[in-house]
Amino acid sequence: MRLDRLRIPVVQAPLAGGASTPALTAAVLNAGGFGFLAAGYKTPEAVAADIATLRSLTEAPYGLNIFVPDDDVDSSTFAPYLSEIGGEADRQGVALGVPRYDDDSFTAKVELAVSERVPVVSFTFGCPETADIGRLHEAGSEVWVTVTDPNEAQAAVAAGADVLVAQGIEAGGHRGCFVDREDREDYGLLVLLQLLTAHVSVPLVASGGIGTGAAVAAVLAAGACAAQIGTAFLRCPEAGTSAPHREALSGQGRTRLTRAFTGRSARGIENRFLLEHSTAPVAYPQIHHATGPLRAAARVAEDPDVVNLWAGQAYPLADERPAADLVGALAHDLATALASASGRAGGAAPG
Ligand SMILES: Cc1cc2nc3c(=O)[nH]c(=O)nc-3n(C[C@H](O)[C@H](O)[C@H](O)COP(=O)(O)O)c2cc1C
Repeated sequence: MRLDRLRIPVVQAPLAGGASTPALTAAVLNAGGFGFLAAGYKTPEAVAADIATLRSLTEAPYGLNIFVPDDDVDSSTFAPYLSEIGGEADRQGVALGVPRYDDDSFTAKVELAVSERVPVVSFTFGCPETADIGRLHEAGSEVWVTVTDPNEAQAAVAAGADVLVAQGIEAGGHRGCFVDREDREDYGLLVLLQLLTAHVSVPLVASGGIGTGAAVAAVLAAGACAAQIGTAFLRCPEAGTSAPHREALSGQGRTRLTRAFTGRSARGIENRFLLEHSTAPVAYPQIHHATGPLRAAARVAEDPDVVNLWAGQAYPLADERPAADLVGALAHDLATALASASGRAGGAAPG
């Protein structure tokens, strides 16, 4: 996959947790962009079925995204938080889930990507070992790693990553940081792109808060090869976004970073659960599993106050429209924005 051969420099982000569907990815691929299936939270069998469905919808090269497991933490880290949210589960009429540690079937998912010869395999929450990257390379896959600061970028390049997905603090959903800590320095996307272009020479894909063709133009001007967009695709009819999530995306609420739902920092639209449980510790995936049943019950009951409403800061710009229309509009507006910026650059413009 050569990023510079993409007809439209727009990448549909993996959207784990229900929004990602083969139909969404196929629509983006067939419209000339690039798209990812999300392996996160799914069994390897379900991921294999998604790949088969996607292959029946398009012949275009595609991507698969895999979560790198976090380190386990002691149960004393999250026990007080479980007591705090016990009443929430009672209110939904369910029991909290078992706060278990797992690796999201990391090894089996890498094996699947190798055996399926997936054209692009991307990773978030960490960097895979050099040996895993080597096996993917041997299978013909390109490896992308999400990074949120210059240190992660250097580590990913040293491990053999072909492309870095630079994720700014504006992004919806989980932070892709290798280790979630209270005292990290978070970077806005434009700062991150400047720092990374100064530090590394692999191609960069920019991600976070990109909702218009003008913003795609901005990240290309800042050195990225493409824009990876998540939130703007959540309202497409092809996405599996839940009804309360769709409803919240059509509103005007604020977004905020939270660990309340999963024990890992993520950006979502403010709701009661997010605001009332602001002291959730770093404990992923234990808190994710513990809150799973109450989030599922709230989705069924269409109760937006207890659902994780992941969204990036530009979410008010997201419209309800088919994915191919969105990709086409981004491409059109990108061309307009580049022409108009080049006009405004005046004497600074080349030639
Ligand atoms: C609902 C949702 C689910 C996401 N799931 C994943 C995922 O499975 N893997 C991943 O690497 N990034 C995931 N992300 C983050 C995106 O890759 C991307 O960084 C982010 O959507 C960019 O910001 P934006 O939402 O403002 O466009 C998710 C984002 C959202 C909104």
